[in-house]
Amino acid sequence: MVDPRLITMHLDTKRFSPELVVLKTTESTNEIAKSHLHTGSSDVVVVISETQTSGKGRHDREWFSPKGGLFMSIAIRNNLLRGNYPLVGILAGCASAVVIRDLFSISVKVKWPNDIVVNELKLGGILSELITEGDQVLGVVIGIGINQNIAIDEIPSEFRVQSTSILNEVGHHTSIEQLISGIINAFDSRFDIFNAEESFDSIMSEWTKLCGTIGKTVQVFPVDESKPTITGRAIGINKDGDLIVVSDSGEQLLINSGEVQHLRTEEE
Ligand code: BTN
Repeated sequence: MVDPRLITMHLDTKRFSPELVVLKTTESTNEIAKSHLHTGSSDVVVVISETQTSGKGRHDREWFSPKGGLFMSIAIRNNLLRGNYPLVGILAGCASAVVIRDLFSISVKVKWPNDIVVNELKLGGILSELITEGDQVLGVVIGIGINQNIAIDEIPSEFRVQSTSILNEVGHHTSIEQLISGIINAFDSRFDIFNAEESFDSIMSEWTKLCGTIGKTVQVFPVDESKPTITGRAIGINKDGDLIVVSDSGEQLLINSGEVQHLRTEEE
């Protein structure tokens, strides 16, 4: 069982004091976090579960959620965010990547829109959801899933060739509590961006440094498979988290959904 005392012991937050909810199993930590925004009173709630029976990935995909994985969702009330919703997912991507890199000496990168990858293999993903009630925004829920103590042969065969785990990268089990508290601390220490004018620039420059996508030639596969793929060079992201791609014909395009594959070219 994930031990909440070990998480609390390593917490060192200054901007917010999250309410922690630790479960043995649930359908999806994002759903529990969402219900806290609807019915709870805390401004920040972190929901953690040892397994999920119906873990959600982007584009309505299932997220493989066995014992050994890290599944957490951070719910943040609207009044803390000043309308900068897309930034919070980017901030979670930076926090997760930096902590995995520093704790386990793994060379992790973020990949647009917000995957956590090692050598192009997926180690984790982030699912951010804007939560509304009628026409009122209650806040956001940021779900973070990381393949931590999962053996590679446990990963379903259809994902295995594109995935990795921390266990696979470092060769031994690592502490889930330490990683969870590290991510919460790293998230907290970047949270001032929501009160600062220069918020966008500081988090974008960190994300861009961690990002394996910017500067690469990419192929973009739209979610709607009937639409054509786009090939071009990724040059940055904007305030909404859209990827800016200069197509082969020189047109500047904003990509707001889809999957990206990095292509290698002679000069890269
Ligand atoms: C992706 O498709 O890359 C995003 C995956 C996000 C998975 C996490 S696990 C914790 C939280 N609960 C969910 O149901 N999904 C997110």
